[in-house]
Amino acid sequence: MAIVTTKEMFKKAYEGGYAIGAFNVNNMEIIQGITEGAKMENAPVILQVSAGARKYAKHAYLMHMIQAAIEDTDLPIAVHLDHGPDFETCKSCIDGGFSSVMIDGSHYSFEENIAVTKKVVEYAHDHGVVVEAELGRLAGVEDDVKVSAEDSSYTQPDEVEEFVARTGCDSLAIAIGTSHGAYKFKGEAKLRFDILEEVGKRLPGFPIVLHGASSVIPEYVEMINKFGGEMPGAQGVPEDMLRKAASMAVCKINIDSDLRLAFTGLVRKHFVEHPDHFDPRQYLTDARTGIREMVRHKIVNVLGCNGKA
Ligand code: G3H
Ligand code: 13P
Ligand code: ZN
Repeated sequence: MAIVTTKEMFKKAYEGGYAIGAFNVNNMEIIQGITEGAKMENAPVILQVSAGARKYAKHAYLMHMIQAAIEDTDLPIAVHLDHGPDFETCKSCIDGGFSSVMIDGSHYSFEENIAVTKKVVEYAHDHGVVVEAELGRLAGVEDDVKVSAEDSSYTQPDEVEEFVARTGCDSLAIAIGTSHGAYKFKGEAKLRFDILEEVGKRLPGFPIVLHGASSVIPEYVEMINKFGGEMPGAQGVPEDMLRKAASMAVCKINIDSDLRLAFTGLVRKHFVEHPDHFDPRQYLTDARTGIREMVRHKIVNVLGCNGKA
């Protein structure tokens, strides 16, 4: 199986009322944990790479490890640029074999966002690559840039038809109250399902993307806190809200923080329980297995894409 685009995945997900997990990858154990979990559940999967991940692990290493995971699992796997900051980064990922890119023009004006997205779409489509765009702005931390709650803004449904028509983008990330990172809500979690519903009505059949969609799984936060970490007040999107979004127009659910928490929690636990260990294979095995099980849980209980590969 070669790297696939998200076109077919999203079509089936939209019709089937489920979503595909888009998991951020930074190293071999994360790639292996995610794809082994997807294989066990026979699920399609999107591996996404941020600009920071490309800087950390280098494009070629990530591509070759992802190719190895495809060979190993024979699953439909899409490789996606997460939060592409500009045309040049998108072009470099398209030229370098990604099947999907996100151009994140959410911090620009409506017209500037359209202009940069359209430019990426033209280049991407000429090369058989699909494009995710963003309208509205999430709060939280991405690539060391912190967006405060005051600077975030919900997507305005009356802008989406014009945006999609003028840019030609293949999917659209919208802001309905989720945010990046491990501290999403203070108190009760609230998502604007009315906005999602209205966007769905205005763009029938069109795949919507939900960023900032980690649940910040309490088991791992507790593990981190128990084994020497400090994450008081960490809180994510409740799973029932994600399931509801997946049954609506949301076809792609982005998960990074839950991977980080599982990885870190299990490494912390390992060191406390085995203070004499110093072979990285020992503690990284725990982290990789934890990611695999966490991804299986998401696929079966949150995304609903088990058996859909
Ligand atoms: O939305 C951002 C993702 O969690 C990626 O994070 O830019 O630190 O790799 P990163
Ligand atoms: P989380 O921080 O909720 O995992 O969001 C990840 C994300 O949106 C990546 O683009
Ligand atoms: Zn994101």
